[in-house]
Amino acid sequence: MTMTEKDYSGTVTGKIGKNSKVNTNLKPEATKIENKNKTKTIKLTEQDEVEINKLNIEAYKKAGQIAKKVKEYSIALIKKDMLLSEIAEKIEAKIEELGAGVAFPVNLSIDDVAAHYTPTLKDEKKAQGLLKVDIGVHIEGCICDIAFSLDLTPEKKYDKIIKASEEALKSALEQVKKSKENTTLSQIGRSINEKITTLGFSPVVNLSGHGLDEFDIHSGITIPNYDNSSNKELGEGAFAIEPFATLQKGSGLIYEGSGSNIYRITGSGQVRSPSAREILSYILETKKTLPFSQRELERKFGSKALLGMSELKRAGAIDEFPQLIEKNHQVVSQAETSLIIHEGKVEILLE
Ligand code: CO
Repeated sequence: MTMTEKDYSGTVTGKIGKNSKVNTNLKPEATKIENKNKTKTIKLTEQDEVEINKLNIEAYKKAGQIAKKVKEYSIALIKKDMLLSEIAEKIEAKIEELGAGVAFPVNLSIDDVAAHYTPTLKDEKKAQGLLKVDIGVHIEGCICDIAFSLDLTPEKKYDKIIKASEEALKSALEQVKKSKENTTLSQIGRSINEKITTLGFSPVVNLSGHGLDEFDIHSGITIPNYDNSSNKELGEGAFAIEPFATLQKGSGLIYEGSGSNIYRITGSGQVRSPSAREILSYILETKKTLPFSQRELERKFGSKALLGMSELKRAGAIDEFPQLIEKNHQVVSQAETSLIIHEGKVEILLE
């Protein structure tokens, strides 16, 4: 999953309940909700008390191996005109079958939707055009975030733009392999931008890669898809790099469109109905602070899912991610992989 400028600031304002200010930079140990008169803390279970600063190398590597298999499975699975809901359900089932957790709902974004769309259970949308498949796999909260693009047109007209984001990712990875923990954000952004523009396309500049923390899909650092002149170094840790390419007649910017059917917990809210409470505790137990989908709740809770979710939305307990759409409605391609930098070594999780 990608980051937008709004995510950089870390706080969501205005959309949550009247008197509440919610910190969306959720850490696994607690979710803090500041109300007008009091501060509440939801304690998650003790297993969640992970050592944040220590990289769980083995877990990241295992997540990477599973992500690699899931990617192969997905490429073989997806055919033009398949229902997006069937694709998403099968990929997520595969992740669990292989012994990992779903780090976020499978994103299936078509054409000018750059990212952040997942189908509902009865969604009638079908696979077509330029399809981006963004998949998150986790082992004990250690996330491998990957994405690839498929050209589902009969004439294969998106071949080149898909190559552009793939080549840009390769170029960024070469840079990281060379400079390791000292790689600067500027160097990565420049290598991505140069490759995409040389191939005749434009990078999407307000989407970026990101750090990965345990049970935290978007931690601190943002990794730009253009040269932002930042000398900040990557340092040690886990990261996702994800170039997006659009046509030169595109704006190279995305805007936030309608809902993505992907949600995150933003607070405990004041929920009364048993179904809303049941859904909330299911999310806290199984997803912790990771994003989840309407589809998953529909699958698990049937008809009461939507009613429970609308109460949770009203109470400011959950918030929906918007779809990220190219401003000039030009097609967008994406390539993404995750890597760890540890003790002077760079390990690309999918290699
Ligand atoms: Co990502």
